[in-house]
Amino acid sequence: MSDQEKAAKRAQWEEINRAKAAAKQREQGTPDNLEPRASVTQKQFQAIRGSRDLLPPDTALWNHVEQTAREVFGTFGFGEVRTPVIESTELFARSIGGETDVVSKEMYTFPDELDFFRQNLRTISEAMQDEGRLNRYLNLVVVFSERLKDALNANRLPQTETNLDVSQQLADLSSEALGRWNNGKTKPDPEWQNLLGRAETLVWDFDLGDKESLRPEGTAGTCRAYIEHNMQQLPQPVKLYYMGPMFRRERPQKGRYRQFYQIGAEVLGGADAPAIDAELIEMLMTFFGKCGLQGTELSINSIGHSRDNCRRGYVALLRTELEKVKDKLGADSQRRIETNPLRVLDSKLEHEQSVIEKLPRIGDHLCDDCKTHHAAVKHELELRGVVYRENWRLVRGLDYYMRTTFEITAPGLGSQNAVCGGGRYDGLVELLGGPPTKGIGFAIGEDRLILSLEESGKGAAPQGRDVYIAWMGERAYATAIRAAKDLRNADFSVELPPTELKFGKALERASKLGSRFALILGDNEVADGQWTLKTLRDGSQQKLTEQALLEYLRKL
Ligand code: HAM
Repeated sequence: MSDQEKAAKRAQWEEINRAKAAAKQREQGTPDNLEPRASVTQKQFQAIRGSRDLLPPDTALWNHVEQTAREVFGTFGFGEVRTPVIESTELFARSIGGETDVVSKEMYTFPDELDFFRQNLRTISEAMQDEGRLNRYLNLVVVFSERLKDALNANRLPQTETNLDVSQQLADLSSEALGRWNNGKTKPDPEWQNLLGRAETLVWDFDLGDKESLRPEGTAGTCRAYIEHNMQQLPQPVKLYYMGPMFRRERPQKGRYRQFYQIGAEVLGGADAPAIDAELIEMLMTFFGKCGLQGTELSINSIGHSRDNCRRGYVALLRTELEKVKDKLGADSQRRIETNPLRVLDSKLEHEQSVIEKLPRIGDHLCDDCKTHHAAVKHELELRGVVYRENWRLVRGLDYYMRTTFEITAPGLGSQNAVCGGGRYDGLVELLGGPPTKGIGFAIGEDRLILSLEESGKGAAPQGRDVYIAWMGERAYATAIRAAKDLRNADFSVELPPTELKFGKALERASKLGSRFALILGDNEVADGQWTLKTLRDGSQQKLTEQALLEYLRKL
């Protein structure tokens, strides 16, 4: 091998190693010891669009709401389920529906790293332009082939016959390509075109398995968990609740975020008794009542089930009627006539309202079973004193619903005023591969609930400390540490300044923190065993022994 050839080979391997190192670093993230480069101007990071920080004292209200949910749901026999925020994309597509906005437009789905690689392998015509680009393309093929093999060996990809075969063919092809390159064939030519073409076809034959998405809602994950953990073996129905972040890439506005929080509940089991629907709604209204949320409005509807003599028949009729008034509808509604005519009923566009009001109503086209079920749900709600409004246009935006649907609005939220949505979804568990199961549930938009509570003046009062310990001197410090421990053990919130402060300064800080009391500990107090407790609201002071102090505070 000539010196020139050796140099070319070395350069080639260096390039491959660089590509491998870069891929590895992408996988592992930036090392902790990487100093920011001096030339990079310091960037001010901000929470990304549609997400936000929740800070104290606001988080006190969030905690209060969540605690109230735990307590109220507990009294109705619900237990908490915590499912991952990331699930298989297919789970959401199958349950929520591939055509829905949530799945087709709003999900955060991660492109698989290998998928990313193979997108880059589509640039054959570019690779055929010069030696440098050919070299880069070749590197990609080699690295892709190795990572594929690693992923297969580590069981991170489906070990199907095709995948194993493709992986082997790709490995053979990359060594053939390297051999060619090492033999000095470094210029684009028809044979390279042929070789790279084969590589490109091969990578697309590979099944990279399921993609993953951030959850846009909690029902699908809960049903997956119900199936995965054989919960049908438990006494039925299984009543579960959850709370946590959900993700939808929507246009952010008041009450609408890309990371938002839901508090949800699901009842899963063999029965679809109307009392289950009504009790779930009763629980929801009890919860809102306990939170102090006023001015809520509950709307209910039944969208029947998907048979020709029920919803399917109605949808066909609706489509025909919508075609007749197509010209009077906006572009979105026109498109929905084909894709999902029921969603036209959801439209908030002013000029469409009079058209929609004249359309046939689903209530008149339900089958007898669904009609009876709906009437019984309403009766059960009345038995429980739950006030509702019927809304025949309430169809909901997720595909899994059948029969009962409901929504609750709250004041102070502007156009995004739905604070909760829910409904029945019998058959969803079966659709996901589980046993025939009935289901009903709801999800509260926690951000909106908090917003509405704050707007109505029900936000939590800023939380101050109960006791600020103003200490001076080494002996007093030791006593202060002990006093802080005892007070905290007795559930008081205590601020113990970490360094000595003059009493004047300490009292100033205590006021700023909104503390109720300042416990003053200096040499005299420690020597006499008589501690000074100052009430910051009115400035009054009293002397108390350690024991008497605890008793005094406990009685307040
Ligand atoms: P959903 O109607 O899509 O239903 O969402 C429920 C609630 O979550 C909405 O009423 C709203 O308060 C809140 N929400 C939705 N998107 C956002 C957003 N981008 N920003 C802030 N809040 C939002 C479901 O998610 C179903 N899984 C409910 C369910 C459970 N049905 C049966 N079981």
